[in-house]
Parts: sequence; C-alpha cells; structure tokens
Amino acid sequence: MSNTIVIGAQWGDEGKGKIVDWLTESADVVVRAQGGNNAGHTVISEGKEYILHLIPSGILWPGKLCIIGNGVVMDPIALLGEIDGLKEKGIDVTSDALKISNRAHLVMPYHCEMDGYREAMRGSGKIGTTKRGIGPTYGDKIDRTGFRLHDLVGDPTVFAERYTEKVKACNDIFATADIEPIDAEATGKALLEAAERLAPFVADTVEIVHAEMKQGKSLLFEGAQGTYLDVDQGTYPFVTSSNTISAGACTGSGVPPQKIDKVVGVAKAYTTRVGAGPFPTGNQELSDRFHGMGREFGATTGRKRRCGWLDFVLLRYSAMVNGVDSWAITNIDGLDDLAEIPVCTHYEINGEKVNLPPAAISDFEDAKPVLETMPGWQTDTTGCRKYEDLPANARAYLDRIEKETGAPVGAVGVGPDRSQTILR
Ligand code: GDP
Ligand code: IMO
Ligand code: MG
Repeated sequence: MSNTIVIGAQWGDEGKGKIVDWLTESADVVVRAQGGNNAGHTVISEGKEYILHLIPSGILWPGKLCIIGNGVVMDPIALLGEIDGLKEKGIDVTSDALKISNRAHLVMPYHCEMDGYREAMRGSGKIGTTKRGIGPTYGDKIDRTGFRLHDLVGDPTVFAERYTEKVKACNDIFATADIEPIDAEATGKALLEAAERLAPFVADTVEIVHAEMKQGKSLLFEGAQGTYLDVDQGTYPFVTSSNTISAGACTGSGVPPQKIDKVVGVAKAYTTRVGAGPFPTGNQELSDRFHGMGREFGATTGRKRRCGWLDFVLLRYSAMVNGVDSWAITNIDGLDDLAEIPVCTHYEINGEKVNLPPAAISDFEDAKPVLETMPGWQTDTTGCRKYEDLPANARAYLDRIEKETGAPVGAVGVGPDRSQTILR
C-alpha cells in the first residue's frame, strides 16, 4: 500500500496520462485533484488510443475506483460528452467506477465565453488558454461566487434563480463587446438535465478517499498541466489557474500531506510548451522536426506544441517544489536520431549565471539558455524493455538528469504504448 502523486515537471503534456495508466495496475483508486478539461491525457492501451480530459486515466482499468476531487473545475456537459465518448470506445463509466466531489466547482457556459472574451481583451499579451473556462471558473471560486456540484444537483429552483442572475451579469459585460448573450433559460435547462444524469456520480469524495485509506488501499493522484503552469510556481501570468504542483493533490482531494508516500515527476526527455509565454530552450528546428514526424500536437486543442531542448533550470526547481522522489522520463525515443543533443545547464540573465527560474516574467523572457552538447545514441530505443537495453549514451543522458536534479530516474518511456515503459 502506498499513495503516489504523479505530476508534470515542465509545461504540461509530459506523458502523465501514460505513466498514470502504467502505474494504475498497482493502485486501487485514481484521483484527479485540480485542473479541468483543459487537460488532455493520451493513453494507448492494447492499440487503442484514448484521450482523457476530466476523467482519471485509471478508468481504462476494470475494477479501479476513479475520483474527480474537490479541486477540479468540472464542465458538466463536457464531462457527459467524455463519458459518452468512452462508451463508444467500449469503456462503460459507471457510477461505481467514478465518483465526483460534491464540492467541485462548475465550469458554466459563461465561464467559457468569458475566457474567450478576456483573451481577446489581452490582445498581444494573450495567454493562449484552452478556452475551456478554467481561469474564470477558478476566479469565481476564489471570489466566492462560484457554483459547486452540490448546488446543481440540489434544489433546481434555487439553482435556476442564482444561475439566471449570474448569466445576466455576464451578459452585461458581453454586450459591451458585441458578444451574443447567453440564453439563461436554455443553458440552465441543459445544465439541470445534465445534473440528472450526473446525480448518481456525486459523492463526498473526501469521506470516500479516507475510507479507502483506512482499508489500506493505494491512491494514485493524476496531476494535470505541469509545474511551470502552476499559478504560484509557474511562469506567471502565462500559467493556468490551479496549483499543478504535488501539493495541489492534497488541497484538491482532502488527503493530508503525511499520507503521501511518493511523488513521481514526469518530464519529457526534451521540453514542449503549448500556448504563450517564455520558453528559453525553444527551438524552431526541433519543433519542425517533431511536427514533421506527426508528434507534439496538443491533445485538447490540436495546436502545435513548441518544442525545445531539455532544461535543467526547470527540472531542478521542479524537483524542489514538488519533492520529486523519482523521475519518469518520457519520449526518450524522440531523440533517437540525433547525433548531438544540447541540454540547458543554466541561464544567463543580464550577464549573470542563473540556476533556478526567475520570478519576473521579463527576466524569463530575457533568459539566454546556456547549452552543453551531449552525444546522441542514434539507435532505435522503441523496442527496449529493460534499462540495460538502452544505449550507453541514452543512459548517460538519464544519469545527467539525476546529477542535475538530485532525484533518481525510476522509469523511462520509449514509445506511446503502455508496454513501452521501462521500470528501472
Ligand atoms: P499528458 O497531458 O502529460 O498526459 O501528455 P499528453 O498525452 O498530452 O502528451 C504526451 C504525448 O506523448 C502523447 O501523445 C503520448 O501518447 C505520447 N507519449 C507519452 N510517452 C511517450 C514516450 O515515451 N514516447 C513516445 N514516442 N510518445 C510518448
Ligand atoms: P495537460 O494536463 C499543456 C496551457 C494553455 C495555456 C495555459 C492556460 O494535458 O498537461 P488554461 O486553459 O488552463 O487557462 O490555459 O495553460 N495548458 C496546458 N498546456 N498541457 C495541459 O494540460 C494544459 N492545460 C492548460 O495552453 O498556455
Ligand atoms: Mg496533455
């Protein structure tokens, strides 16, 4: 029995879904604790590809309990769409397999519209959000004006009254920008219909996770987004609106910190970023190369991810703020062809050597990556199944990650399939 948090150590899309799916075999309960359907987690299991947005990846394993915790922001209509999509692929999401926190905040139609509106208002300073209403929903949560799931599945009359008021206030803002008003009646009705379907899934998930822990069951927390999208530790303001670091798993689930046994940091063997914001090691040639190979397109929005070299400044700080006990390094196979592989050891900002990420976004934008070249391995790793099978230079690359971050590499990804994960 052990409780493990899996987090992304870069800007998201590190391969958390694949690693969570792989670890689920030895877990009993899989919990999402933050983020919303801005997340897109790809899992390839037995040749079939699944992209999970709100539902924990553990749903692909029969007999596992999946939980959407109180820290998640949940779009009820999108969630039902995801449940229906999984059904089409042969996965029946029952209310025995999935429980949703009654305390989870709801992404409403006006949050999605507001997300787009605020992005337009930002002009050239736009964040490049997924337009899934994430920022406005967390904004309302912090402002104490949000709706939680219990509000929707509770008294329909009380809900409809408050909802109509809120829609009106948002429509007043939209009117100033000639945005079509939201139809409170039609959208309110759709939400109440969704509530009827969702009611069997709604639960006090804090009670459930504590009961599971009492029985000695193992919890696996599936992080969403990545450390540099964390609202406190990331490249603010080019971040998402939740705590994506390991600590977010506790606040978002009601599981106290001392119950956590292990933190697994997931990082790609290189770096990617989707959306705006600084990216010191970003490299157009590498981006073009991956896109040409059909890799590195966003799982939620289909946007091209920007790609760059592995950045030890990022990983060093990630190891610190997440308390990474071990690394799962994915996509090592993406580097298979290269004769030489640059890695970023530190930044230079205004002529000074910098080993950890700066706080000010202007410093981040000015940061010059100092690159060191490591020898490539020019060998196909996708068939490797044991650590010792990896070419010596690939192992040296992984050793370097350990040396720079002080955390050991426990797993390596050599392809997108569940079977292409090496346990060290
Ligand atoms: P997540 O959001 O962290 O779950 O990651 P995404 O699913 O958005 O993006 C990761 C992408 O890399 C997906 O297309 C995965 O199928 C793929 N992937 C994960 N691990 C590996 C790996 O080791 N090698 C390869 N080639 N692809 C991988
Ligand atoms: P997973 O879980 C990569 C990025 C967006 C944008 C910023 C803010 O698949 O790793 P938001 O819609 O959250 O307000 O957008 O965060 N972003 C992600 N990038 N992976 C994700 O999730 C992301 N979720 C949000 O592109 O830059
Ligand atoms: Mg993703």
